Amino acid sequence: MMAVSTDLHDILLQKLDIRAIAAMAPNGIIGNNNSIPWNIPEEMAFFRRMTQNASVLMGRKTFESIGHPLPNRRNIVMTRNTAWHQDGVTTIQKLDQLVELAIKGPLWVCGGAMIYEILFPACRELYLSTVFGKFDGDTKMIPFGSIFVIDKTILTCSTFKVDHYVNRRYANIKESPLFL
Ligand SMILES: NC(=O)c1ccc[n+]([C@@H]2O[C@H](COP(=O)([O-])OP(=O)(O)OC[C@H]3O[C@@H](n4cnc5c(N)ncnc54)[C@H](OP(=O)(O)O)[C@@H]3O)[C@@H](O)[C@H]2O)c1
Repeated sequence: MMAVSTDLHDILLQKLDIRAIAAMAPNGIIGNNNSIPWNIPEEMAFFRRMTQNASVLMGRKTFESIGHPLPNRRNIVMTRNTAWHQDGVTTIQKLDQLVELAIKGPLWVCGGAMIYEILFPACRELYLSTVFGKFDGDTKMIPFGSIFVIDKTILTCSTFKVDHYVNRRYANIKESPLFL
């Protein structure tokens, strides 16, 4: 069952420009053995282009699968382990810490599944690549139909397509007096 939007999610929706970006196979698989089960350089290039010079937020497992901070981006990693530190990385243990980080520009939520589950309700938009092919794995995209509604397909090529979704609640939040 999908997490329900909370007051904190609404506050984050108002205060920060949080966006999610993800790639999945047609069967919903997003990962296997703590890595990505495909190697599609043009999809990686899309991810790089979208997140360049912005902030990225990921779970500790995804960070460790990459092994280093993503260059030219402010790297934020979520972990419950207060002793976990890496050079060039800001760590948070709780979502409300995001408000204190003075994030400029968009904050891109980059996965994995646990972090999508926690953050999707606070994301204004989702950019979701579907990679063409058959891939098996152990980590699936979470159900998100109650949170996001499709806007349009923004890119299609021979190996993947990208669909843009918008948060169903964001339009209401924008009109709330609290937002002004
Ligand atoms: N296809 C894609 O777009 C994509 C994108 C990203 C990742 N992936 C794949 O997804 C897989 C990893 O996903 P995952 O869901 O297993 O792990 P994850 O979301 O990357 O990281 C999970 C970790 O985040 C921390 N965390 C989770 N909930 C938390 C909370 N409420 N408070 C504080 N910290 C919390 C915990 O770290 P601690 O254990 O340190 O406390 C937890 O172990 C890999 O296969 C990766 O390659 C795919």
